[in-house]
Amino acid sequence: MSRLIITRGLPAAGKTTLARRWVAGAPAGERARVNRDDLRAMCHNGMWSGKTTEQWILLARDAVIEGFLRGGVDVICDDTNVDPGIVDLIRFGRDCAASVELADFTHIDAWTCFKRDQRRPGPEQVGREVIWRMRDRLVASARMDEVRECLLTVAKMPDLAAYGGP
Ligand SMILES: Nc1ncnc2c1ncn2[C@@H]1O[C@H](COP(=O)(O)OP(=O)(O)O)[C@@H](O)[C@H]1O
Ligand SMILES: [Mg+2]
Repeated sequence: MSRLIITRGLPAAGKTTLARRWVAGAPAGERARVNRDDLRAMCHNGMWSGKTTEQWILLARDAVIEGFLRGGVDVICDDTNVDPGIVDLIRFGRDCAASVELADFTHIDAWTCFKRDQRRPGPEQVGREVIWRMRDRLVASARMDEVRECLLTVAKMPDLAAYGGP
């Protein structure tokens, strides 16, 4: 059974760092990282225009994830996944016959993320406003019954600490 690992946390919490280490921790081709920022950069020159662009990015994300999972490749999706859409991703992974795991970074607080963000190279920084907006969205989604109940059904990534996770 393939694994789908879903990270959840604010920008600069350390999700991509963990994801890259995890991919590097197995022979080439056995694990894959899928990220919406990178798909946006590839497909739309990095442009974001709400649903107009994001519907295609979600389609591409799901197609890539499904291809890997059904081909026996383990996947880590290292987006923020702070929104209620995480429920759709969890269900999608299970529809692809994968075991779904959570790499939880939600306890890395906004100030810590802000400081880490400031240490990133300029073009990679998202800025304080984005981090605080994401925090509000995380708090709002964490209060939703559907999200809470669904997250309770997801196993924690067991080898998170082995790759330097929080
Ligand atoms: N555990 C950690 N402790 C301190 N800094 C970290 C840690 N993990 C990542 N970082 C640094 O924080 C910044 C953001 O990490 P990154 O993995 O890009 O975050 P995200 O993908 O969650 O936005 C990077 O400069 C990275 O080197
Ligand atoms: Mg990242």
